[in-house]
Amino acid sequence: MVNQNFSSMDSSNPMLIPPEKFAAPKESLTEQLFIERSLTENKFWLRIMKEHAYFLGEGFNKKDKQLIQQTDRFHQFFEEQEKKAYQTPNNVTAVRKLNEDTIQLVYGFRNFKRNLLLLIINCKISGFNFPLLVDHIAREAEYFMRTLKKFNEGILDPIQDSIIKENVFWLRIMMEHSRFIASLLDQSERNLVITARKFADDFEVLLNQARDVESMLYKKSPTYPIIGKLNQDSENAATELRNFKQAGLELIKSCQIRNVIEPLLADHVVREANHFLNMIHVLDERLKVKKEEEQKKS
Ligand SMILES: [Fe+2]
Ligand SMILES: [Fe+2]
Repeated sequence: MVNQNFSSMDSSNPMLIPPEKFAAPKESLTEQLFIERSLTENKFWLRIMKEHAYFLGEGFNKKDKQLIQQTDRFHQFFEEQEKKAYQTPNNVTAVRKLNEDTIQLVYGFRNFKRNLLLLIINCKISGFNFPLLVDHIAREAEYFMRTLKKFNEGILDPIQDSIIKENVFWLRIMMEHSRFIASLLDQSERNLVITARKFADDFEVLLNQARDVESMLYKKSPTYPIIGKLNQDSENAATELRNFKQAGLELIKSCQIRNVIEPLLADHVVREANHFLNMIHVLDERLKVKKEEEQKKS
């Protein structure tokens, strides 16, 4: 009896319908966009992966020869794959193959990073590769794989979900970069250390806000003003951090500040901030189109 009442109430009351039913549908990727976005991500991330192999290699204890050799091999593989990305023609089949090969290679490197992290936190090896840095670069590998897999499936998540997921991923990355910078600067660089920590705290707030929005709106019906503001706040913060990193890079290269940051690492984090900004623009363009479509309907 109770069940019957419950099921009849279920179908007539709109407040009892799962709100996920009103989420915007997944979109499909056009051929041109598939090629453009795939090649851009491959060129960017393959260089990043190559540099991760180098940074890890530099951070090992000298006696861990096997691990050093393994990172050297990854460095070589990624360099070759990066060259392939630049040589791949604008053709769907060729790009799909490039994506598949890249996913295989990155999967191996992701596993290596994750296993390495376990060795480090279980005190099985020593060296200078911080656990959070290894976790950070493992997440970057996972993000890269995820992105290419979606491209090969021809799927584009609804704009709202894309903005939420991209921001949750990248804001954490930006927060961690700020903390890494603060700990690799010499502590006598008092003002720069304070500024880097301030960036970290600001990004932590933005990250938590993005996670709140994720909890409220992921896979729900479009709420574009909130989503647009989230993306805008990230753009402002990421632009400021990019400028700080860029200025830091110049100071490091000209030996004006005391630090243990390799210029290549400083450059690496500038490029990642620029890539995030690029992603924000791509998402913002898609959002604009969606908003215009909505206006025409109403
Ligand atoms: Fe990185
Ligand atoms: Fe990073």
